[in-house]
Amino acid sequence: MHKLIAVLPGDGIGPEVTDQALRVLRTIEKQFGYTFDYTFADVGAIAIDRHGDPLPEATLEVCLAADAILFGAIGHPKYDNDPSAKVRPEQGLLRLRKSLGLFANIRPVTLYPTLAHLSPLKAEKLVGVDMVIFRELTGGIYFGEKGKTEDGAFDHCTYTVLEIERITHLAFAAAQTRRKKVTLVDKANVLETSRLWRSTVQKISAEYPAITLDWMYVDNAAMQLIQNPAHFDVLLTENMFGDILSDEASVLPGSMGLLPSASVGAKTALFEPIHGSYPQAAGQDIANPVAAILSAAMLLDSFQLTEAGDAIREAVRHVLESGIGTADLQMKDVRRCSEVGKMICERIGVLVN
Ligand code: IPM
Ligand code: MN
Repeated sequence: MHKLIAVLPGDGIGPEVTDQALRVLRTIEKQFGYTFDYTFADVGAIAIDRHGDPLPEATLEVCLAADAILFGAIGHPKYDNDPSAKVRPEQGLLRLRKSLGLFANIRPVTLYPTLAHLSPLKAEKLVGVDMVIFRELTGGIYFGEKGKTEDGAFDHCTYTVLEIERITHLAFAAAQTRRKKVTLVDKANVLETSRLWRSTVQKISAEYPAITLDWMYVDNAAMQLIQNPAHFDVLLTENMFGDILSDEASVLPGSMGLLPSASVGAKTALFEPIHGSYPQAAGQDIANPVAAILSAAMLLDSFQLTEAGDAIREAVRHVLESGIGTADLQMKDVRRCSEVGKMICERIGVLVN
């Protein structure tokens, strides 16, 4: 097994959590006898500083040539409070998604019993919570025509049937391997695009008789995610609703630092933690590397190396359940980012041998 992995550490804590994900991948290479090559490239604020472009052509080429992309984080405070900035780090990620045709963002929400104290919900609400969010990633209001008028501004939301169909098939296929339930989240009482989602998804559901489909308006879904999170198995939704709801869902396990994601589509797939660049913590070796490490596990799954992916997930579970974690997890044994990475690697060694 030989693969080429593009590594885009990005901004803020991106480089340090990516380092730990790489350490885990190197451990997997050694333990399983695989060979991975890594090509590094700049993206985000660091790429603006170095090349004047948040997604330099060279970075895109590196990504297109690779078998998978490991992505850190993007964003810098100097752009956040400057609405007039001409280039923004986030444009790098959005252009990368569009250029690679990464139309589906998959965000599993996994709970760890020993971290239940971190969740803002009562323990009984968390029983049975196990969901995966399928967020459409290259359409909707993010990519519609946008602009300024004399006295305002606009962002158009558009969807085609094809854009809805392709992610819907992925969501239903995932549901087949899970609790066999898809919940479509939309705003079909108001939005025309949502009505298109509803009719398209309903039509496709006929091809999957084993799967139960239900739907929810997004405002209600925001409430149900807190009130009755165990309801959800596969949550399917459009781009911006998915952005918002996946941050909301990330508080269920107790820390955003735990959630990985995979973005898949036409070309090379990309794997990234759902958290941002957390600039206040950058360079301090205190950020939680688990989301980045679990993203590396999803990357291995995409190579059909599920045994290796499972070894990572098991090692993470073991370390967290031993009461060890970074500061955000408020455990009895608080460790640094690099220490947590190292312990996960050591556990993989134990598991595999
Ligand atoms: C995410 C992020 C991005 C998004 C930003 C950084 C553009 O919030 O991946 O969820 O809105 O998609
Ligand atoms: Mn987001």
